[in-house]
Amino acid sequence: MKQTQSVSANDFEYLRQLVHEHSAVVLSAEKSYLAELHLQPIAESGGFAGIAELVAHLRTQPFNYLHIQTIEALVTNETSFFRDHHPFEALRQYILPELIKKRSPERSLNIWCAACSNGQEPYSIAMLIREHFPLLTNWSIRLIASDFSTKVLARAQKGHYNRLEISRGLSKNLRDKYFHQLDSEWQIKDEIRQMPEFRQLNLMQSWSSLPEIDVIFLRNVLIYYDMATKKDLLKKVKQQLKKDGYLFLGSTETIINLDGSFKKVSFNKSICYQLHNT
Ligand SMILES: C[S@@+](CC[C@H](N)C(=O)[O-])C[C@H]1O[C@@H](n2cnc3c(N)ncnc32)[C@H](O)[C@@H]1O
Repeated sequence: MKQTQSVSANDFEYLRQLVHEHSAVVLSAEKSYLAELHLQPIAESGGFAGIAELVAHLRTQPFNYLHIQTIEALVTNETSFFRDHHPFEALRQYILPELIKKRSPERSLNIWCAACSNGQEPYSIAMLIREHFPLLTNWSIRLIASDFSTKVLARAQKGHYNRLEISRGLSKNLRDKYFHQLDSEWQIKDEIRQMPEFRQLNLMQSWSSLPEIDVIFLRNVLIYYDMATKKDLLKKVKQQLKKDGYLFLGSTETIINLDGSFKKVSFNKSICYQLHNT
């Protein structure tokens, strides 16, 4: 018989540690409702009587696919097309025009969405480029989109969105131009779907496979980390960003008191960061 259980404090502590060890995400204690909501289906599909039995099994097994599924289920994937609007306007009005001028000798640009979730962020950038910068079709544009979660990457690569997702942040004009409707779902067209290079990358691991980047979107992920992890990550960003490149964080995130190497740059209502001495 199906058993819906709340998660004991002891089990939640185990889950918090598991998630932290593999993603650096810190689950706050009040997030135990997340565990109840998201782990029940995993417990059921694995044939466990409930979450307690699932956790007991995880505790005794070497790290395997069930641990990965559990971690991915507990990490927040909230995202939307053109989330917060202003960063994309800054990219369109100021940053891409400036970088296009500067990079015209080599005609190449690298943009990285460092925690891309289900793909709405890189696809927003892809649509923006397709709409407003036709001259870039002759450039080498790398739009790298990464996440540690294979679950979200699979969805992102598919480019398939439900009615709620498609209605969040996307204009009707862009929806009709770049998506096919499939009953109540929408499929992104191949011309946009093929623009991002999706890849699995855990931000806590090496970034050596990445090229130097002109624009980094590291949005709505620092909020889940502790201070030491944020600082470590910003050190890596500093190495990866071109000297005159731009860094975007989420609208509630800041670099203040974390790393003195960055300066704030404002474009209308959007704030982003550049390295000092640019
Ligand atoms: C809240 S979503 C943000 C998505 C998008 N950047 C946005 O702002 O809409 C956070 C994403 O960070 C990813 N994430 C968390 N820890 C990570 C890590 N250590 N390495 C890579 N991705 C991570 C999660 O899987 C999730 O998809």
